[in-house]
Amino acid sequence: MTNKLTKLTANEAGHVPVLLKEVIQYLDPQSGEDFIDATFGEGGHAKEVLKLIEPKGRLLGIDLDFESGPKLDSGSANLKASEPLSWSGIELRSGNFADIANIASRSDLDEVDGVLFDFGFRSFHIDVSGRGFSYAKDEPLDMRYSTETSLTALEVLNSWPENELERIFTEYGEERDSRKIAKAIVESRKDKKILTTGELLMVVDSVVRGYKVKTYSRIFQALRIAVNNELENIKQSLEGAWSILKPNGRIVAISFHSLEDRIVKNFFNDKKQSGVGEVLTKKPIIADEDELKENTRSRSAKLRAIKKIK
Ligand SMILES: C[S@@+](CC[C@H](N)C(=O)[O-])C[C@H]1O[C@@H](n2cnc3c(N)ncnc32)[C@H](O)[C@@H]1O
Repeated sequence: MTNKLTKLTANEAGHVPVLLKEVIQYLDPQSGEDFIDATFGEGGHAKEVLKLIEPKGRLLGIDLDFESGPKLDSGSANLKASEPLSWSGIELRSGNFADIANIASRSDLDEVDGVLFDFGFRSFHIDVSGRGFSYAKDEPLDMRYSTETSLTALEVLNSWPENELERIFTEYGEERDSRKIAKAIVESRKDKKILTTGELLMVVDSVVRGYKVKTYSRIFQALRIAVNNELENIKQSLEGAWSILKPNGRIVAISFHSLEDRIVKNFFNDKKQSGVGEVLTKKPIIADEDELKENTRSRSAKLRAIKKIK
């Protein structure tokens, strides 16, 4: 199966799908089966699934953000349309995976053989979106996956109370200096709103000594999780996916940090303990040496898979 896969490298594609052969192995798509890729992105995983289920199987791709996604069959499609879009035989719907069961039902997919989640952001968000996802670029503080939602990082930083900022930095960033950083943000915004990622870094620099890159990435992670309600969405999406999974259906989930991975692990263990699921990955699957060399994003990827027994 491995050599059938389309091997993408960073030169050929904006976003290189992580753990591609492992996704196919655990999702195990068979001809005629129906799947949902709940984090469609640029379709790197989805198009490999499609090859194996064609011509009768259906594939629905969901994403909050189709901006700069695949070139859609309908040309300059209205990306915010509630009507389905299509891309090379894959049906696409924009929406939040927390709402997966309703979105699937709009496409008459009330039961599916498998669901894939590849959480987080894609290369576009960091490299192109201009929405302040990366501390390495000086950009406006937005951090939304979907520009249709209203809460931005700007609002969080400039209006949330100090104790809430401290809480998100601690809970979502696992940052030790949360209290100091939250206090400095509140002091700084009394003089002037914090508008850009660069200004946020200056505030962090004013209170954190020594090597700061890890602190930056923890603070950015915390803000991104808060702005996009990421952990709650993941919990709901797993429940939703389970509710539309056929017996013998598979869920494959790729996480990029321990908070996401913990939610997936606990959800799968609950299903195992209640006798309705078989966990297919005793330990999380990580990238092999070759992939680690080619795709830096694969370094933190952890894949878990479960099969529904009943
Ligand atoms: C890591 S990328 C997926 C990449 C994809 N597997 C590929 O091969 O191109 C994660 C995607 O999930 C989307 N996303 C994040 N949160 C979402 C949510 N709550 N609902 C739907 N999509 C979401 C992001 O917009 C992003 O495109």
